[in-house]
Amino acid sequence: MATMDGDARVTLDPAFRVGAVDRRLFGSFVEHMGRCVYTGIFEPGHPAATPEGFRSDVLALTRELGVTTVRYPGGNFVSGYRWEDGVGPVSERPTRLDLAWRSIESNEFGLNEFLDWAGAAGVEPMLAVNLGTRGVQEAADLVEYCNYPGGSALSDLRRTHGVDKPHDVRLWCLGNELDGPWQVGHKTADEYGRLAAEAARAMRLVDPRIELVASGSSGRWMPTFGAWESTVLEHTYELVDYISLHAYYQEHEQDADPLGEFLAAAVDMETFIEQVVATADAVGARLGSRKKLRLSFDEWNVWYQSRFPGARSLPWAQAPRLIEDDFSTVDAVVVGSFLIALLRHADRVGIACQAQLVNIIAPIRTEPGGPSWRQPTFHPFAHVARYARGDVLRVEPSAARYPTDRYGPVSTVDAVATLEEETGEVALFAVHRGRDADRPLRIDLRALPGLRVVDHLVLGGEDLRATNSAAEPDRVIPRPGNGSTVEGDVLTVPLPPVSWTVLRLAPSP
Ligand code: AHR
Repeated sequence: MATMDGDARVTLDPAFRVGAVDRRLFGSFVEHMGRCVYTGIFEPGHPAATPEGFRSDVLALTRELGVTTVRYPGGNFVSGYRWEDGVGPVSERPTRLDLAWRSIESNEFGLNEFLDWAGAAGVEPMLAVNLGTRGVQEAADLVEYCNYPGGSALSDLRRTHGVDKPHDVRLWCLGNELDGPWQVGHKTADEYGRLAAEAARAMRLVDPRIELVASGSSGRWMPTFGAWESTVLEHTYELVDYISLHAYYQEHEQDADPLGEFLAAAVDMETFIEQVVATADAVGARLGSRKKLRLSFDEWNVWYQSRFPGARSLPWAQAPRLIEDDFSTVDAVVVGSFLIALLRHADRVGIACQAQLVNIIAPIRTEPGGPSWRQPTFHPFAHVARYARGDVLRVEPSAARYPTDRYGPVSTVDAVATLEEETGEVALFAVHRGRDADRPLRIDLRALPGLRVVDHLVLGGEDLRATNSAAEPDRVIPRPGNGSTVEGDVLTVPLPPVSWTVLRLAPSP
């Protein structure tokens, strides 16, 4: 579908702000699934392994990616997981059947290994408790094992496992996707809401400082979406800090304009956020609460689910290759548009985790015993994690629209900007969904005079279906942008077709 003519425009004005950029927006996710843990972050015997068995190449890429928070150990996996299997002497740990992914779980890597890894990676852990097959006691036990200093059975058990000081884990998810019939221990909203409320109470009795995330719908497409959030929050509103959202998107061959529809997927993500905010606020109003609940978008990404046969048909295997999608330039542009959508809602979305970190639909890929490399989607995430600082400015991009079947008319350009008060630096992130030609983006800087461009990066504009691989790890990378011009208070930047652009502006010295 051809786009209409016309320049795109944004106005940057420090008087209009959405809210502070919470660093937890740059989260990721490590699940015991496929090769995310085994031969992903953990591979004793790999030439780059640390003494603990962590892949140091993956640790370095994780730091470069700028991930701040990592959710663990699932995902669907957590709904059948016994955390006790993964602590204590490795030789005594049981091998179990992971029913979620039909995988053989050796438990060689468990809680303390993950928390050590998180320390080495410099990320905050976000732990999920099993509310599928387990309940209040096990959830409280896990908080005691992790956070109680000593002198109780489980804190002393931790100390016998060589961890003297408490891990002090603050962020906790109350189960995972229990609205989904595929989930081991699937529940109705009332069953889950009651259980989550009681687990929350017990966990907070052990450690009142923890922050809790109630499980929202596994997707906006779920038939129970909305009703699930409403009922769950009726039970948990005053006991939790966040409600979760999960969403995955892909290009659909059956669409009349597959690329145009896919490039517009962030419109759905924004609608999802706004609908969950509305639902949570409606419950808050009904309960007469002054509290405003925040959102944890703790699974989001591109995922070509149509290529996955489904967990039920998998043969039992140990650390199999599951959903190792090769991402392209287009996927990176779409990921960029998701990051814009998340930042634009920084007033309510306080946590976001791209799912997952390594190998599983991930920005980082590895080969067992071999190299690691960055997928194209690595780059927009790293840009935003590095440069989005301070406050999100309320920018209202105006641009030509193109028609879509799924979302109606969609803007060819989307953009968001942040302003760091201390340095006066501005970062602007933009996607161009148009496919025909460069489109000039005119940035009105009247309210921020004296800024100059210090960096201009572009990913896309060409080789839309190119991917990276072990053999060609840097085929898709960001390149320096050029062609920006200044006229009075207006900076004009050309946005190539189907592209992601980062513009960093700083006060003139
Ligand atoms: O990230 C892959 C899976 O997607 C997770 O295990 C689950 O929570 C979601 O459905």
